[in-house]
Order: sequence, then structure tokens, then C-alpha cells
Amino acid sequence: MRYAFKKIAQREIKTVLDVCCGTGRWAIPLVSKGYVVIGIDKHKKMLAIAKKKAKEQNLKIDFKEGDMRDIHMMKKVDAILVCNGIYFLLSHDDILKAFSVFLRSLEEGGVLIFNVPNLIGREQRDHGIETFHGKNVYYMEIRKLICLDDVKAVTHEEWVSIVDDRGKLCMISGEVKTKLLSYEEVITLLQNSGFTKDKIRCFPSYEARDEVKDEAKDLIFVVVK
Ligand SMILES: C[S@@+](CC[C@H](N)C(=O)[O-])C[C@H]1O[C@@H](n2cnc3c(N)ncnc32)[C@H](O)[C@@H]1O
Repeated sequence: MRYAFKKIAQREIKTVLDVCCGTGRWAIPLVSKGYVVIGIDKHKKMLAIAKKKAKEQNLKIDFKEGDMRDIHMMKKVDAILVCNGIYFLLSHDDILKAFSVFLRSLEEGGVLIFNVPNLIGREQRDHGIETFHGKNVYYMEIRKLICLDDVKAVTHEEWVSIVDDRGKLCMISGEVKTKLLSYEEVITLLQNSGFTKDKIRCFPSYEARDEVKDEAKDLIFVVVK
């Protein structure tokens, strides 16, 4: 993200809109680094956790309830981040609505950053098991496909997560529907909502600097307005 803000954006990044902010996993470190952050999520419970975490750390973040297809900003922002969120929109129409909102809400030269899992590759590689190691946190998620709508390219999955948070174990489960999106599809949707093709870049991970798409776990799009 630092690379996208400093090297790809064509303006200084001071304000960040964290769309689908969840419990503030990105908003909180961004505010700690001095950015002004607005977090938007459609789930009250996620926002309540985010607000509690920010309060505990004495951080000022404007967390708002809202849907990414229908955001009205009083003032444009320098960057928009949508981490693990865009693919919860299950149709092209909805994704176009969200991209149009993002274009409208961004300052000229600002950046939109979002990721799309390279789901076809992921299914082949990890057989529905994903693990995550964070600072004192270990997380394992097991997914099982309930059904795949291969016309609309929507997966319906059951998931179980085992979380080890500083030795405190807990298990959570649920069901989720996500849209499978290819690289080409995302580029077309971005262009159809008004972004310019030569200002769209795509990376295979958050660490990568080369735009290689093969074998990517995620497709990370960095788009300049
Ligand atoms: C997988 S979480 C990602 C949270 C955070 N960005 C992160 O990376 O840790 C997805 C979040 O998207 C939110 N979400 C899903 N659909 C949304 C929508 N249409 N508008 C706003 N938020 C949405 C969910 O409530 C959830 O908090």
C-alpha cells in the first residue's frame, strides 16, 4: 500500500476511504501512520468492533454504516481501499455501481486499491484450506463448496474458521456467496465505469512490484483516476 500511495498515485495521499472496512484491520494501522481515514461497512457488528478497537487505541476514525454501491461523500478522498470486499457484489451491475461511486469519490490523481482472489487458481492449489499468521494470531479457514452457479459465476460456500488469538482458541462458521472474477472482466468493468485502461495496474501480491498474473493468489488492482 505504501508503494501504491508513494509511487503510483499521482497526488499526495492524505485521506483514505476504507470501503468494507470490517473490524478496522486496515483503517487502524493507516490512522496510526497519520492518514485521515473514513471506514465504511454495511454490517453494524463489524463497525462496533472497529469502533471499540479504535477507542482502545485512542485513534480518531470516522466509521460509517453504508453500502459500497451507494456512498455519498461530502468531500473527495485521495485513496480508496477495498480489501477483500468487491467480490461480495454478485453481479456486474452491482460492481459497476460500486466502481462508479469510487470514481466519483476520488480526487484526480488519487488511487483505488482492491483485490480479487484468483479463485480458479486458489481452488486448484489449496483445496479450500487457507491459513494466516499474524502478530500473535493464527487463523485457519476451511471452505466447502455448497454450489456453484456456473452461469453467473457465483460460488456458495460453507466455511469454518479456527482462530488462535494469543492462545485463546475460538471457532466460527458461516456461509458466503462470492463472485468469481477474471482479470479481463475486472479491466472491462473498470473501463466501463470510466477508469482509463493505461492507468490500471495489477499485482500478484501485496509485496510484488512486477505485474505478473500467473500463479497469483490474489489479483491486486491499483488504479489511478
Ligand atoms: C472479508 S471482510 C473484509 C474486512 C476488511 N476489509 C479486511 O480486509 O480485513 C468483508 C467486509 O465487507 C463488508 N461488506 C460486504 N458487502 C458490502 C457492501 N455491499 N457494502 C459495504 N460493505 C460490505 C462485510 O460486512 C465485511 O465486513
